[in-house]
Amino acid sequence: MTENDQVTWGARRRRRFPPEHWASLICKGVWDETPDVRTFFLTPADESRIEHDPGQFMTFQIDTPGGVVERCYTIASSAARDGGIEITVKRQHGAGSAHLHDTLIPGSSIMAFGPSGRFGPVSWPGTRYALIAAGSGVTPMLSVLRTAVDRGIALDAVLVHVAPTDTDMIAADDIALLARRLPQLTYIPVTTRGPGAARPTGDLLTNLITDMADRTVLCCGPQPFMEMVRATARDAGVPADHYGEESFDFSSPESEITPAADTPVRSVTFARTGKVFECAETTTILAAIKAAGLPLPSSCARGMCGTCKTFKHAGEVTMAHEGGIRQREIDRGFILPCVSRPLTDIVLDC
Ligand code: FES
Repeated sequence: MTENDQVTWGARRRRRFPPEHWASLICKGVWDETPDVRTFFLTPADESRIEHDPGQFMTFQIDTPGGVVERCYTIASSAARDGGIEITVKRQHGAGSAHLHDTLIPGSSIMAFGPSGRFGPVSWPGTRYALIAAGSGVTPMLSVLRTAVDRGIALDAVLVHVAPTDTDMIAADDIALLARRLPQLTYIPVTTRGPGAARPTGDLLTNLITDMADRTVLCCGPQPFMEMVRATARDAGVPADHYGEESFDFSSPESEITPAADTPVRSVTFARTGKVFECAETTTILAAIKAAGLPLPSSCARGMCGTCKTFKHAGEVTMAHEGGIRQREIDRGFILPCVSRPLTDIVLDC
């Protein structure tokens, strides 16, 4: 064992990974979960500690040949872990995840922002859960289970995971092992192809989780799947405040409506660069920034991920976010330009 190994084994990470800035993570390990899903183990380059809740995600800058793209991936590892995080990523069509699969190897680095988001048992407290996931939507559930084991939480949950085949069932072995440590966890994998296949319908879910009305339902998957689960939970009698969902399907963000000719226009000033441009009161500030050809990191364009969070020096906005910013950050003067529209002239810290 080298001196360096001893330092690594004994290290305790004290400083906190900066949640409001981009910072570098080093890839320490990569392994395959299924033929098209891979897990990456990442640690902060500055030896800091990533504090997150189970169910939160981080935003990553992926340096593709066509330019930098930003993608959000849920943290799949335990929130009790000190040394780093795991993200479990499905290779999709398009530049982001495919490039990640091809280039993020042990020793390489990637810029990350976060953690962000409000999904999971911290934001949706309950005593009994129904965790319902499709495909890689199981990754936040993995963090919930792993955190429960590490923190000695007697999690009472039914986990239903839908995937095409047994081969596509992410971390099935790991979940079976976790279930041995969580005696009140019931794990129900559902395949949609091959022997024993079932269609993921509301009837199937209510048959599998007969006491759904008594549980807090957390759902993650593609939009149509979540719409089905949301309707099923509602029909089963789950109160709206006992139902939470998360998706990173940002393929159709809210489109901008061309402002009417008489819409008041405000000025937006970048305090640090001195750039000034106009933004109609009905237009998001992020859309105006992009139209002006200026750079600002963004990902979801829905007020969810927190990537575009920016300090506002002056002015008033309306902002309807979806959990990408905390109230204390709003109180300190931060906004999410992707879901903020100006009420007055604005000065941003850019
Ligand atoms: S881009 Fe995601 S919150 Fe603004």
